[in-house]
Amino acid sequence: MNWLNLSELENLAKKQIEPTAFDYIASGANDEITLNNNVEAYKKIQLLPRRLSSNANPITKINIIGQDMSYPIIIAPTAFHGLANKKAENATAQAAQQTDTTMVLSTLSNTTIEDAAQSNANMWFQLYIFKDKKITLELIKKAESSNYKALVITIDAPILGKRERDIRNEFHLPNHLSIANLTEHMQEAELGQRKSASSLEQFFKEQLDNSLSWKDIDWLSSQTKLPILLKGILHPDDAKLALQAKVSGIIVSNHGGRQLDTAISTIEALPGIAKIINKEIPLLIDGGIRRGSDILKAIALGADAVLIGRPIIWGLADDGINGIKDVINFLRDELKQSMQLVGCKNINDLTAEIIRKTTNQDT
Ligand code: GLV
Repeated sequence: MNWLNLSELENLAKKQIEPTAFDYIASGANDEITLNNNVEAYKKIQLLPRRLSSNANPITKINIIGQDMSYPIIIAPTAFHGLANKKAENATAQAAQQTDTTMVLSTLSNTTIEDAAQSNANMWFQLYIFKDKKITLELIKKAESSNYKALVITIDAPILGKRERDIRNEFHLPNHLSIANLTEHMQEAELGQRKSASSLEQFFKEQLDNSLSWKDIDWLSSQTKLPILLKGILHPDDAKLALQAKVSGIIVSNHGGRQLDTAISTIEALPGIAKIINKEIPLLIDGGIRRGSDILKAIALGADAVLIGRPIIWGLADDGINGIKDVINFLRDELKQSMQLVGCKNINDLTAEIIRKTTNQDT
């Protein structure tokens, strides 16, 4: 491993990934304010460590929706791992299995649901809801029969955010990659040859349901026994509605800053949502986590676990399966170090007591 932190890893990954693909992975919507704020907001949170707490070996085990996890770290759903490594999501799933980490496979993967499941990792499936409900149902059935343990429904993307880098680059998948789960349904390799401003934007317009409502979440719940987590909640009132909809968990997310620019950073949104959820269902968060101490902060402010997106792709590009394991081990080691330095024995006992309160904090 030839990097010391995730910012160095990003620079190494950039050398391995084709420039327009790297832009697709890196980019955020519009002016990329939210993209940057996700990272910057963590830096502004100050810790208030406790001393002499005798915590030589901090405990990081958690249980979410009945699933034991050795660390509160989950691989976020991100599209097209084939842009980073030819083994694509198969490599990511193997790294997940080898590190005992849960992986959320994206609907937009270059590896099929069935193939990624061969790894025997604990797998969840991220689902986009299609205009054609038959496709949605087919994906759910495949996830169920391949032993996926939860569905993560992305609810912040009725349309695709405006990603200027992708528009400028006319981003499209290279010919050797496809949306593996959807090949039967695509007339042509939709994201391939056709070079409109951004082929992904076109795909969203043509294929995905842009009129989703809470009724669709009820409908989904009636179609599967799998636990459903809603990804993309930022408003406390939506957290209330999620509780009413009886979903199994929510993920505070702004889609890595790729959808609505100037939307609140996720760590700033978390306390208000944690207050509403009040530990009734698991509360997860993604976006901007680059240090173990960021994970500590998220848990202290009410999250049960975090999801890691771009850094996983950087690890995959840098050194395949081992590169992803390096990222996961890096975050785990730093989390443990931060727990020791802040005086926390058990991750489940962390509270906002270790966070310095500021006057404008929304807690
Ligand atoms: C897909 O979900 C993306 O954000 O590009």
